[in-house]
Amino acid sequence: MEGIKLSLLAAVFVAMMLLSPLAVVNGDSDDTGSVKPVVKIVKGKKLCSKGWECKTLSEYCCNQTISDYFQAYQFETLFSKRNSPVAHAAGFWDYHSFITAAADYQPHGFGTSGGKLTGMKEVAAFLGHVGSKTSCGYGVATGGPLAWGLCYNKELSPSQSYCDDSFKYDYPCTPSVSYHGRGALPIYWNYNYGKTGQALKVDLLNHPEYIENNATLAFQAAIWRWMTPDKKHQPSAHDVFVGNWKPTKNDTLAKRVPGFGTTMNVLYGEDVCGKGDDDEHMNNMISHYQYYLDQMGVGREEAGPHEVLGCGQQAAFNPSSASPASTSSTS
Ligand SMILES: *[C@@H]1O[C@H](CO)[C@@H](O)[C@H](O)[C@H]1NC(C)=O
Ligand SMILES: *[C@@H]1O[C@H](CO)[C@@H](O)[C@H](O)[C@H]1NC(C)=O
Ligand SMILES: *[C@@H]1O[C@H](CO)[C@@H](O)[C@H](O)[C@H]1NC(C)=O
Repeated sequence: MEGIKLSLLAAVFVAMMLLSPLAVVNGDSDDTGSVKPVVKIVKGKKLCSKGWECKTLSEYCCNQTISDYFQAYQFETLFSKRNSPVAHAAGFWDYHSFITAAADYQPHGFGTSGGKLTGMKEVAAFLGHVGSKTSCGYGVATGGPLAWGLCYNKELSPSQSYCDDSFKYDYPCTPSVSYHGRGALPIYWNYNYGKTGQALKVDLLNHPEYIENNATLAFQAAIWRWMTPDKKHQPSAHDVFVGNWKPTKNDTLAKRVPGFGTTMNVLYGEDVCGKGDDDEHMNNMISHYQYYLDQMGVGREEAGPHEVLGCGQQAAFNPSSASPASTSSTS
């Protein structure tokens, strides 16, 4: 066991040594170490591409990218206990996987919308969801309960195989495969593996275990979920967070406002929202978000007031009475 861990560490170290020169050759660094964008004007619009991290020509790639303001040591600070011997996914999650996965979505605005502060807040918010969902911290854990994000990469004792037969035409379950929770924003059920696999062009319906074997893929799936609306004409968690979304009259009546609270509504609906201000799952996500803001040097005061942070008074975007199959299971 110890030997395997050590050789794994050695392998990771060698891989980093091999990879780091590439990152330098790929783009011109200025003296702050950040890569300068390549700028093009297309129809009067300024578009950029920036190194390997923001490759596709996009207005977002003209802005600071995630590695400009969120570096490996900060990832280590946020998830300081994830490689402790008692953590269930020790050795699995790392910064490199996160930043590699994020590279697919930065040209679409993930961490690159609205300037550096909004970018930092979005990374803290996304990771706040992730940390809360993958934590094994409890009241007496060393370092405090918020230091234990990314402790899991899968559900340990699934009580069922999460096969919903009503999706047998679109997302048929593969015999003897289990669709229990896996990943950074854990995926449950055959239809969610099916949809995610379609989007990422990976056969997750036959191989859901890919998610627990590949941290980059796990982060990709989670960022895809963050960036993608559950239904047409609805906002994504990203949209409600960075301000792309303008609430309609119905949204206002349902107390849905732009901010962190509504990201929980998009991702978990009535499993978490509309249950008053004391819901434990909701407050755990908020606590992780605030803790990460502090750890990143942004400060929790940037998170805004409780009306924006929580969703205890909100009506769900997709109430289950209207569409029973659409809500995804939490934790
Ligand atoms: C880029 O950052 C600036 C602030 O630095 C912000 O005003 C602008 O909206 C950002 N661009 C995009 C496309 O979000
Ligand atoms: C892990 O997933 C990434 C992203 O989908 C992929 O590029 C990579 O090849 C995968 N690694 C392995 C070992 O399968
Ligand atoms: C607003 O809510 C009402 C009542 O639930 C519904 O009938 C209507 O379609 C909604 N409008 C929009 C634009 O969603």
